[in-house]
Amino acid sequence: MEKKIAVILGDGIGPEVTKQSIRVLDAIAKQFNHKFTYEYALMGADAIDKTGSPLPDATIETCLNSDAILFGAIGHPKYDNDPSAKVRPEQGLLKLRKSLQLFANIRPVHTFPALHHLSPLKSKQLEGVDFIIYRELTGGIYFGNKTLSEDGTQASDDCTYTTAEIERIAHLAFKAAQQRKKKLTLVDKANVLETSRLWRKVVQNIAPQYADVKLDLLFVDNAAMQLIVNPKQFDVILTDNLFGDILSDEASVITGSLGLLPSASIGNGGALFEPIHGSYPQAAGKDIANPLGSIFSAAMMLYHFGLTAEAAKVRAAAQWTLDNGFVSKDIDPMNFYFTSTIGELIADFIQDKIPSELHEENIQLRKSTII
Ligand code: IPM
Ligand code: MG
Repeated sequence: MEKKIAVILGDGIGPEVTKQSIRVLDAIAKQFNHKFTYEYALMGADAIDKTGSPLPDATIETCLNSDAILFGAIGHPKYDNDPSAKVRPEQGLLKLRKSLQLFANIRPVHTFPALHHLSPLKSKQLEGVDFIIYRELTGGIYFGNKTLSEDGTQASDDCTYTTAEIERIAHLAFKAAQQRKKKLTLVDKANVLETSRLWRKVVQNIAPQYADVKLDLLFVDNAAMQLIVNPKQFDVILTDNLFGDILSDEASVITGSLGLLPSASIGNGGALFEPIHGSYPQAAGKDIANPLGSIFSAAMMLYHFGLTAEAAKVRAAAQWTLDNGFVSKDIDPMNFYFTSTIGELIADFIQDKIPSELHEENIQLRKSTII
């Protein structure tokens, strides 16, 4: 299979984790006889520095001409700390999502037994946690009209949704539930918000088309609590843009590290894959970031291409590094492996280059030991 992949390295740790994903994709291409070509494009603070715009037109062009987009991370502290900045890196990502109509953001969350000790939750709440969040990504309060009064003392952000916007993502979420544990939880704030009442009505109207799926309705404040108290109860969570942003970060820490979680954003044709972590500027350039969020995102990309065996191989390789303690600093701050070493090990595993007896010494050489 031949695929053209647009690569946006982005900001902070984006470049170094994405490079490991490319290494992994190259290993898959070799092993399974595929051809992946990469075209690099700019976005975020990196793009502002180089072109003045957080999303140059050339980037949209490159993305439109590709089969999928692999993206690193966005954001820089110099903008975070300046609320009056006119141009912000995040505008690039929001515009890209909108331009490509990537209306569904899919964030799978499952726990890894090897990492239970890192979770803020207790082990007994973690076993069997396996759910997926379908977050609406191109509507709602993120994209509504924004105002700031002339004297700067009053601001507003409109939240608008149409039936069509809700329907298209609801169908995807119901279909996903049919392939899984057949439970869909709509998270909203229908006791207060008009848009949430529209979500409920539309989703309830669609539900009979998916009679094998059980539909649950949950207010967002309760959902935030249930994610901590009993995360096992969830299968597919469907929610709007803002609630999905917040709940997916909350959900990610359940696994023990934000650095592990991948995501896919899909819509009418286009597809973008990115780890859910941010740009983590403190770690940038140090080769210590966790590459697994990006590598699992690359696995989602392979799955999206229909390459299920290849996606499974990437996941198995990543799982092997976790099980053997080849982990990054967020997982083991004392005895960790470099970002690039983990990428190399995963690529080697994919190409069956890991001998049954590990070359302990070579591996140890790439390990950072601060004790
Ligand atoms: C995410 C991020 C983005 C969002 C930011 C960077 C604009 O937090 O993808 O969850 O809020 O959607
Ligand atoms: Mg977020």
